[in-house]
Amino acid sequence: MSISKKEFKRVTVKSLIEMKKQGEKISMLTAYDYSMAKIVDDAKVDVILVGDSASNVMAGHETTLPITLDQMIYHASSVIRAVNRALVVVDLPFGSYQSDPKEALRSAIRIMKESGAHAVKVEGGIEIKESVKRILNAGIPVMGHLGLTPQAIYKFGTYTVRAKEKNEAEKLLEDAELLEKLGCFAVVLEKIPALLTKKVSEKISIPTIGIGGGKFADGQVLVIHDLLGMTHEFNPRFLRRYMNLYEDMGNAISRYVSDVKSQDFPSDDEQY
Ligand code: KIV
Repeated sequence: MSISKKEFKRVTVKSLIEMKKQGEKISMLTAYDYSMAKIVDDAKVDVILVGDSASNVMAGHETTLPITLDQMIYHASSVIRAVNRALVVVDLPFGSYQSDPKEALRSAIRIMKESGAHAVKVEGGIEIKESVKRILNAGIPVMGHLGLTPQAIYKFGTYTVRAKEKNEAEKLLEDAELLEKLGCFAVVLEKIPALLTKKVSEKISIPTIGIGGGKFADGQVLVIHDLLGMTHEFNPRFLRRYMNLYEDMGNAISRYVSDVKSQDFPSDDEQY
């Protein structure tokens, strides 16, 4: 059963703006490899984010900082080969766009050329204005990311809710308006109060995509490993788990181990 109001054969940045206008919520999920991306795309998720959360869930790093541009391109190329419908957005990794707008453009071009992705995502507002402008001027669609921006985790110190104070909330709203003015097609709002998400979503015409941003965002995003319950030690309030794959996969693998040990596997029917 499809719950999309309008069937998009291919989701584009224009489709997302159309969805916001029509009041249709946007679904976004991460994927980092071919097999998972195929399942996510076939399930008609609108946007697939090749997030730098790959640094955590694929590579086992504590933060998103260590992942490299080459590694992001590898993940993005694998995802692109699986996708027929979703818009594929790729995170520009830490260090590939903050220092110099020219380097930002070079990094974005490498992602688009070498992976075949459709757009890039960057974290921050006014601080990265010139980089965002450069990338957009080259015709590359940009998604923004405000609130809890994990690439700045050492500045924040903790993963707690952002923009609870008036000053930070005002700056976030200004940054969202700036990103819209520059020409970004959407903005992720991570771990901020629901009423601030509401205010931003009403103020800007481009879609807001929340993760821990509450129900007033124009769309929602989760990390696929969290949604499927493959990660089990990460339990923020905003996370809804739809499966407990950590347990289910563990049980299946234990059964396999036991079948091998007991020589139940392979059976006569499972050999040549
Ligand atoms: O890298 C990522 O997965 C993200 C989402 C949490 C929005 O940026």
